Amino acid sequence: MSGKQSGLYTVVANKPIGDDIFRLAVAWKNAPPGAGQFFLIKSGRSSVFLGRPISVAHYDGSAVHFLIMKIGTGTKELAETRAGETVFMIGPLGNGWSDFFDRAPQNGKPIALVSGGLGCAPLLYFAEELAVRSSPSFHFYAGFSTASPELTGTIASLPIPPQKLIVTTDDGSDGEKGVVTDVINAEAYAAVFSCGTTAMLKAVAAACAKKGTPCFISAENHMACGVGACLGCVVKTVSGNKRCCADGPVFNAREVIFA
Ligand code: FES
Repeated sequence: MSGKQSGLYTVVANKPIGDDIFRLAVAWKNAPPGAGQFFLIKSGRSSVFLGRPISVAHYDGSAVHFLIMKIGTGTKELAETRAGETVFMIGPLGNGWSDFFDRAPQNGKPIALVSGGLGCAPLLYFAEELAVRSSPSFHFYAGFSTASPELTGTIASLPIPPQKLIVTTDDGSDGEKGVVTDVINAEAYAAVFSCGTTAMLKAVAAACAKKGTPCFISAENHMACGVGACLGCVVKTVSGNKRCCADGPVFNAREVIFA
């Protein structure tokens, strides 16, 4: 895992993979980021002050890849950057999935990766790391509001694909109609790793707690500074307030106090 760096980095590729989602690849010559870590990113000629926190979805040995949704000025500017242009990045930041994975029980059961929407991004990179570690088999639960063939295809085409890919959509346009927590049997897994909205994470954590299954979540709290200085991203835990950006974004769900 590399130490935090900052500066202008060259865009290698940028292409849309859906209506409002794009894949941005940025040259990265430093040590690989850890799965679950994120960068603060903004266009090299951005009008915004703060970069947006974006999780790493893939690292190909020379570039970090991000899956980004266009939801504001900063991300719209990023969507317009072209290969050869620059983005300003700070990172990699935060902890990652690895420490938690190492502490999870190895009991022969598979593990479950459970995502909501673009929460699949940090889990995609985690799945790649699992493959390198020759880890137990994993099942991938991906919930979307509506069919997202590009993201579903990205999960299905992981170098080592999940043994089971279970898709749910709110509108029933792909997979099961409903939400991931309707279909997951937490008892079947050694541990569950999840990223998505707070409401989804709360439901996943509750389903796991009911069955005694360890659960680790990547929180998607709003962030400002992204480096632990502003206390703008507080996650309430049983051991006090934690900073999502610096103490997380991955937490043991058992320790998180959901609103
Ligand atoms: S975003 Fe400033 S402390 Fe986390």
